[in-house]
Amino acid sequence: MSTLTTPGIASRLTDKYGRAITDLRVSVTDRCNYKCIYCRTGNDGAQYSELPLNDYLRIVGVFVTLGIEKVRLTGGEPLLRRDLPSLIHELAKLRTTDGAPLDLALTTNGHLLEEMAQPLKGAGLSRVTVSMDAIDPDIFARITRVPGSFHKVLAGIRAAQRAGLGPVKVNCVLLRGFNDDQIVPFAKFARDEGVIVRFIEFMPLEEDRLWTPEVVIPLNELTERLSTFRPLVPLSANTPSETARRYTFDDGIGEIGIIAPVSQAFCGHCSRVRLTSDGKIRTCLFSQFDHDLYARMQRGATDEEMAAYIRSTIEKKEARHHIGEPDFLKPSRSMVHIGG
Ligand code: 5AD
Repeated sequence: MSTLTTPGIASRLTDKYGRAITDLRVSVTDRCNYKCIYCRTGNDGAQYSELPLNDYLRIVGVFVTLGIEKVRLTGGEPLLRRDLPSLIHELAKLRTTDGAPLDLALTTNGHLLEEMAQPLKGAGLSRVTVSMDAIDPDIFARITRVPGSFHKVLAGIRAAQRAGLGPVKVNCVLLRGFNDDQIVPFAKFARDEGVIVRFIEFMPLEEDRLWTPEVVIPLNELTERLSTFRPLVPLSANTPSETARRYTFDDGIGEIGIIAPVSQAFCGHCSRVRLTSDGKIRTCLFSQFDHDLYARMQRGATDEEMAAYIRSTIEKKEARHHIGEPDFLKPSRSMVHIGG
């Protein structure tokens, strides 16, 4: 029997637990025009850091030679980089080690999406995910701490669908006592608007100290509460590393995803690595350290040297997070700095 492997497969990024890393999330800024209570403090004026877009392009290019197939641009709020379509245009030219185009996605709060949807699609973006935590405009404003934005986000979602950036996913972080009365309205929204609504369990990644286990709406409770609206029917996973458990309703109308990193952790098949807006690698949302790839790039590292550094960093990827355990330590940075 031949033991030959193709060069592409041989060079794939793998960690010491055998997980193949195929999914890169790149934060292109840690600025954000929202101050969501589950993410940031209410204060402005913090320092921010972001790189020239071409530097992200070079870094992503190196990652792609190592087997990355999917790139998601995040922030902060990525659409605050007004020239983002030009980065996407260049990323769309990259090819995976199998010769395929990258799967290019974006996570945005949707505030600027209405005018950006068409240029993003034209540049080569495949899909968008919009974060939206309430259907009720007042609750929406209370969570984001920005008045009057709800209707802009709704218009952004619709513009994205018209532009062909679908299926549009809508992420909702559920917080008991803040927006858990929005569960059924979101189910109706998924059905009426033809979007995939994904409920995310709240993780302790915020700048303030809001997280307690009681604030989290766990998957089991959520499926029960959704079933009071209509019976839920599970759907099969699209891919083994998919984070969301997928459901529809008994009449087949509407898709709901539930992302349950707290009550049903999915670390065992994690395929993700993150690049912060200042060019550091994070191997887990809950890492205690970043790995400064950009510093090496600035000191003149070649692509090969950067690739070697990425490989050695990925090898050290954490086995899992420890949310809810006595030894849990908050990560060294909050979500707005890491990127979703
Ligand atoms: N817990 C869970 N999800 C969060 N997000 C941001 N902060 C948290 C948190 N502490 C979500 C955002 C976005 C996605 C990338 O992550 O709302 O939709």
